[in-house]
Amino acid sequence: MSSIKLAVIGGGSSYTPELIEGVIQRVEALPVSEICLVDVEDGKEKLSIIEGLSRRMVEKAGLNIRVRATLDRREAIRDAHFVMTQFRVGGLKARARDERIPLKYNVIGQETTGPGGFAKALRTIPVILDICKDIEELAPDAWLINFTNPAGIVTEAVLKHTKVKSIGLCNVPIGMQYAVAESLNAKPEETYIEFAGLNHMVWGHRVYVNGEDRTQEAIAALIEGGSATMKNIIDTQFSSEFIQALNVIPCPYHRYFYLKNTMLEEEMKSSKTEGTRAEQVMKTEEELFEIYASPEMDKKPEQLEKRGGAHYSKVSLNLVDAIWNNRKDIHTVNILNNGAISNCAPDVSVEINAVIDSAGAHPITFGAMPVELNGLMQQVKSYESLAVEAAITGDRHKALLALTANPFVPDANVAEQMLNDILEQNKSLLPQFS
Ligand code: G6P
Repeated sequence: MSSIKLAVIGGGSSYTPELIEGVIQRVEALPVSEICLVDVEDGKEKLSIIEGLSRRMVEKAGLNIRVRATLDRREAIRDAHFVMTQFRVGGLKARARDERIPLKYNVIGQETTGPGGFAKALRTIPVILDICKDIEELAPDAWLINFTNPAGIVTEAVLKHTKVKSIGLCNVPIGMQYAVAESLNAKPEETYIEFAGLNHMVWGHRVYVNGEDRTQEAIAALIEGGSATMKNIIDTQFSSEFIQALNVIPCPYHRYFYLKNTMLEEEMKSSKTEGTRAEQVMKTEEELFEIYASPEMDKKPEQLEKRGGAHYSKVSLNLVDAIWNNRKDIHTVNILNNGAISNCAPDVSVEINAVIDSAGAHPITFGAMPVELNGLMQQVKSYESLAVEAAITGDRHKALLALTANPFVPDANVAEQMLNDILEQNKSLLPQFS
């Protein structure tokens, strides 16, 4: 095989130019000959704008890569080497509903970790399993690289219920690597963080710069400089004492777990002023697509930085590079635990460092998750695994138990009310529950 076919499902996403930029930057290592952007009927207009911009970017770089857009998912998947999933069932409107329903009950919505992410998982899992059927039939050797949120839950569904070779990805670990490196005046590529946990709930346990253990300095820097966040997460600060006690590096999303009340207040406030995150993103998207559509635009515009997905293309294409070129380098990925975290079930997805080569991801043994972190991890994991089962079976009781197990949900009655709203407001998108 001398050239690569990439299929991008959710190709009309405003993030796609990132991906195209990444392909262009790695042309020496990754001989991509075809990029097939797929979307659904509703996303046709956006898809065609993205197709135009992607073609201009490739032309400007003087590359011979065929970029095409299609609504025919099976055609795109046929003979692909890598299938990248970044789709959003129901679009941003569904995300806005996911974020608004819980707020009605004084609960954080959050489109990935909270009940918002639960609703999104119910919508997404049946679709990704369908995509996997197509991959099994039309491109059985392809790698599925999943970015679709909630990435940990969606990846667990794929790994448990299909034969597709798959890895889940997120930009949180690389964002932490850059932030920690900066706080230590080190280069990101010289900085290694031992990550272990779950998606959007991963901790940096140890920090090494060129092999030297600088964990305590990194924690001290966190206390002094405040912890780094991401564009999509309100920047509330952990107390110094809490960070000292925790003695590991929390990820930006840990604010939702450890600072629940503060985050809820902040989300309530912003939902009444600038709108929920989805509502804000809708405005940014409008602006972005106007820029993308201009025939003069032939690069990734700066406005994309307003979105939370920084480093997206770096993470995904470095992973593709490691698989294609059998690099055996280390990446932080979502895969089955398989013993890497000794006190966690083997058949659930975890976010962990792994050696990546052409055979896939080989998780690096972490050992036991310390007791002060393990309780939260196990609770979130049971919520996640129940959410996978609920999404597949359409079993309302499983769904209720999943939602009740989510740490943001204060009680079973509230879970029941939220579940009723979720099922009602997503009726056409959740056929498994009808
Ligand atoms: C971060 C997360 C992604 C999430 C994104 C949302 O990058 O890691 O999982 O999708 O933020 O960003 P947005 O701009 O859509 O709020």
